[in-house]
Amino acid sequence: MPLICIASPKGGVGKTSVAAGLADALRRAGRTVVALDCDPQNALRLHLGLPITDGAGYLARLPERPDWRSFLRQTPAGIDLLPHGEADLRSALASAMMIEREPELLAGPVRAMLADPATIVVADTPPGASAALAALMPQTALVLAVLLADAASTALLPDIESGRFLGQGTLGTLTGPKLMVALNQVDRHSRLSVAAAEGVATHLGPRLAGAVCRDEAMAEALACQRPIGAHAPASRAARDTADLAAALLRALPPPAPAPVASPLFPWMRP
Ligand SMILES: Nc1ncnc2c1ncn2[C@@H]1O[C@H](COP(=O)(O)OP(=O)(O)O)[C@@H](O)[C@H]1O
Ligand SMILES: [Mg+2]
Repeated sequence: MPLICIASPKGGVGKTSVAAGLADALRRAGRTVVALDCDPQNALRLHLGLPITDGAGYLARLPERPDWRSFLRQTPAGIDLLPHGEADLRSALASAMMIEREPELLAGPVRAMLADPATIVVADTPPGASAALAALMPQTALVLAVLLADAASTALLPDIESGRFLGQGTLGTLTGPKLMVALNQVDRHSRLSVAAAEGVATHLGPRLAGAVCRDEAMAEALACQRPIGAHAPASRAARDTADLAAALLRALPPPAPAPVASPLFPWMRP
């Protein structure tokens, strides 16, 4: 039922690695998971084991208005994936503009995925504000912002807390209350990294969903095209990722109650 969007103010912070690890950890926790790649980098497929030659995907082909179901892939990781698809700058811009004009092109498929109450959708979104995240926001239960434990990330904290890192407009305002943060690449042996992580934890309180340590196993997992929980289940990064998944499951709002008949607007009764 819930949609979790993975976002970040910057690229290269481990957003896609965390998205893949979380999707896998949620599946291991007994959930049915659909992974959705909204980032033109089209990298989520690599973490989940699709052949590198398989460059097909839904958003890259959006201008042709294809049936999204024809792009759904069962991955070796056991997670259904709707890949973004290979996109050059021109086609990435064309898709983003189409989503901005017609958010339903993305919102519709996600609504269909979420119709199954057992399913969690994990969406990897482009860094910063994006048309994809704006289109998904009305259905989003949680936005997880991935940050590094460093000076640049701590300086962004006020913007992250308010959702302003996604822009000053509606997207930032809507996101604020649904926003949680995950720290990635926390290094227990670095004084700076530990100090930044402690500062973020104090500042954010319960909005900090978890932290994933810097661990070579995360980079190896990508090289082996497996999520961290499959590649190195005993690693510290895999345990951190499982803890993060458990924290998100606890933070998800309870399922909406069945609609009650109202005397108002009888034509809208279920
Ligand atoms: N916790 C971690 N420890 C070590 N390396 C990591 C960790 N998380 C991500 N990485 C590495 O950092 C690089 C960027 O990660 P990626 O998930 O592609 O970031 P993004 O999606 O934010 O651009 C990759 O090489 C990845 O293997
Ligand atoms: Mg990425």
